[in-house]
Amino acid sequence: MAIPLEIDIKTGEIKSPYGDLFFNFDVDQFSIVGIEISEPNRRQGIGTGLVNAAEKLARELECLKVEVPATPSRMAISFWNKNGYEFALKEEKALVARIMKSKSSSKIFDSDSGIVLMHKRIR
Ligand SMILES: CC(C)(COP(=O)(O)OP(=O)(O)OC[C@H]1O[C@@H](n2cnc3c(N)ncnc32)[C@H](O)[C@@H]1OP(=O)(O)O)[C@@H](O)C(=O)NCCC(=O)NCCS
Repeated sequence: MAIPLEIDIKTGEIKSPYGDLFFNFDVDQFSIVGIEISEPNRRQGIGTGLVNAAEKLARELECLKVEVPATPSRMAISFWNKNGYEFALKEEKALVARIMKSKSSSKIFDSDSGIVLMHKRIR
């Protein structure tokens, strides 16, 4: 499905009728700081479409890497894994393993920083 997208580089937003992605960037790094798709529209590839648009923009900005401070939930980690992201800090390996065993995909686990840092090289 082609998703109508509005990209605003000044405010760091990629907007669609079904949900939005928020980003910022500096010299060689691009960060996706939030993404939320409205519940009835999930599992239809829309989140992936927004991430693909963000990665395309990051390449155009000549960034080397995309970083994501991900929510410590199975839903979020599975989504980022599916999109090719890996956890960045080896000390978070055990936490990620516990999250992935969670019965509830939306349960948010405690972590020292409140997030799990994930990343992907894009060049
Ligand atoms: C996480 C979120 C952005 C995913 O958006 P989406 O449009 O549903 O994602 P997609 O349809 O592109 O999913 C791609 C893949 O991610 C994985 N995935 C997505 N949601 C998942 C879930 N709830 N549980 C397990 N895997 C999931 C699946 O592998 C999925 O592929 P599949 O549907 O073919 O199995 C959306 O569920 C959301 O807004 N959640 C609440 C906010 C949140 O957690 N944001 C992430 C913060 S870092």
